[in-house]
Amino acid sequence: MSDRIHTLSGYLYEYQKSVAQPEEFWAKIADSFYWRKRWSKVLKWNFEEPEIKWFVDAKLNITENIFERHLFTIGDRPAIIWEANDPNEEGRTITYRELFHEVNRFANALKRKGIGKGDKVIIYMPMVPEAAIAMLACARIGAIHSVVFAGFSSTALADRVVDCEAKAILTSDGNYRGSKKIGVKSVVDEALEKSSVETVIVYERTKQDVTMKEGRDFWWHDVIAEESEQCVAEEMDSEDMLFILYTSGSTGKPKGVVHTTGGYMVYSQYSFDNVFQYSEGDVYWCTADIGWITGHSYIVYGPLLAGATTLMFEGVPTFPDCGRFWAVVEKHKVNIFYTAPTAIRALQAYGTEEIEKYDLSSLKVLGSVGEPINEEAWHWYHTHIGKNKCPIVDTWWQTETGGIMVSPIAGITPTKPAYATLPLPGIQLCIVDPEGNELTGNSVEGNLCVKYPWPGMIRTIFGDHERCKQTYFSTYKGMYFTGDGVKRDHDGYYRILGRVDDVINVSGHRLGTAEVENAINEHPKVIESAVVGYPHEIKGQGIYAYVICDMTNRTEDNLINEIKEMVSKIIGPIAKPDKIQIVSGLPKTRSGKIMRRILRKIADGSHDTMGDTSTLLDPEVVSQIIEGRK
Ligand code: PRX
Repeated sequence: MSDRIHTLSGYLYEYQKSVAQPEEFWAKIADSFYWRKRWSKVLKWNFEEPEIKWFVDAKLNITENIFERHLFTIGDRPAIIWEANDPNEEGRTITYRELFHEVNRFANALKRKGIGKGDKVIIYMPMVPEAAIAMLACARIGAIHSVVFAGFSSTALADRVVDCEAKAILTSDGNYRGSKKIGVKSVVDEALEKSSVETVIVYERTKQDVTMKEGRDFWWHDVIAEESEQCVAEEMDSEDMLFILYTSGSTGKPKGVVHTTGGYMVYSQYSFDNVFQYSEGDVYWCTADIGWITGHSYIVYGPLLAGATTLMFEGVPTFPDCGRFWAVVEKHKVNIFYTAPTAIRALQAYGTEEIEKYDLSSLKVLGSVGEPINEEAWHWYHTHIGKNKCPIVDTWWQTETGGIMVSPIAGITPTKPAYATLPLPGIQLCIVDPEGNELTGNSVEGNLCVKYPWPGMIRTIFGDHERCKQTYFSTYKGMYFTGDGVKRDHDGYYRILGRVDDVINVSGHRLGTAEVENAINEHPKVIESAVVGYPHEIKGQGIYAYVICDMTNRTEDNLINEIKEMVSKIIGPIAKPDKIQIVSGLPKTRSGKIMRRILRKIADGSHDTMGDTSTLLDPEVVSQIIEGRK
């Protein structure tokens, strides 16, 4: 790729150019893509509405940029290497040409079911290549995909089906995860009880029994059986929606983040290429699930647009044992490995014995994403996995940013443990104090904002543009507010400090405290609840719930278990509280607002330094909670 950064001075040069002449900068990068019609203007924007348009009036199809753009040169190159959950099951290697044909066949099958441009399609699938094929087939025909992590419950899935007005669901019979076989289609059936989804296509993975509803449910292998390997790509406007991806916010209802075609395409490839410094022939492995933005941008779109070989892993890091990641690295000679701090910390706890069994010499670059990486985990990763020779790229970004925003450029930017270091070209960061004043210079700490658009950014929240405006563009005028706290040190390096809103990050998964509270409150014995995050050794943050309950005919233990099950059922196992404390009251202000600051202090054990409690309605409640602390 011609826009590749090769040196630190090259990075600085590109960065300065991107700030001085953003439109020229991005136009040059966009030039290496295939556009059916070129843009009339690179960028139109205002952060008030907000209204953001990149590559205005341009026409394209993102899959033509994966396939047609370089099929002559890379047709025989492996696009996806798939490693099954069970190490004894044979994996799959799919070349770009084969992937192209599979995408086309499935795209034709979707069309035959009446799905076309602008229709919303939910993908609720395990980590099998067909999940990526499903996404690309939607993009090929202009349907808008919304991938829902297959660990979400039927209630969470149903909410998303309704919110995005899905016309079809693509799923599987079941899912292998570690030693477990999990029903997937059964969850879809539950979610669809009250819905009018017209078509369900089921990929056969586990061969477990499923019920198929006549006229609505079809097998994947049946629908593609007669389809052609050719499918002409739909022409999309640069600003046509590519996908909706739900994420948690500080209010109860998850929001459907909307990404559009042209800008997302340019940004996902540009950031992939530069951050990881992928070279031809490298095997790249991102361990995320495609249900999250990391899977979208850095398992599917970024790598495939770049012509890279992307490894997709169906299983979990601890099956059949805790050496599995390293066994996969050795087996496939992985060169670039991208994972989350929570996985690093979990594996760190098992010691180094399992690592020493494997040859990790193929590794060149290590990546981290999803939450702050603590220094200890950083050093462990660097020493034991990277053998002190692999740069670590600590990549900070969000579902809303579409791609990596702050990160070292592998092997080029000098790294510093726990620092995401510097912004990518095109990313104009700004640190503000609570009043929104920009904090200039180095050695400052505040809230992280971005003051100029970048191509991969969120365009709206599906069905609720006002919420998009309120959440991201209203806190600080003229800026996109990330919700994260940040420090810029004396070298100008950025260190992300974590969320400053009511969002918690559990094992790299974002959850709204209100969302968890709503689920807890569904339990008939619960009167009121308040949820906060607290530092957790492995998960980064754990969930601490304070709950007021009607205890008649119940013991504390059975009630706690029931509440955990309730949350699991309503959201999914990832949202299960780690600690539940039954309390008789919650600390409230005179105006009835729960003082979460106090609850956070109690949860993390720092209640000796409670700060100002003068606005508390009933200080006695606090002492009682401290006494019963878990
Ligand atoms: O708090 C930041 C944290 O994860 C949030 C975004 O979560 P999500 O949209 O689910 O996307 C996760 C994958 C991109 C951010 O607001 N976060 C993400 N990466 C980092 C991070 N915090 C610190 N360091 C990171 N590298």
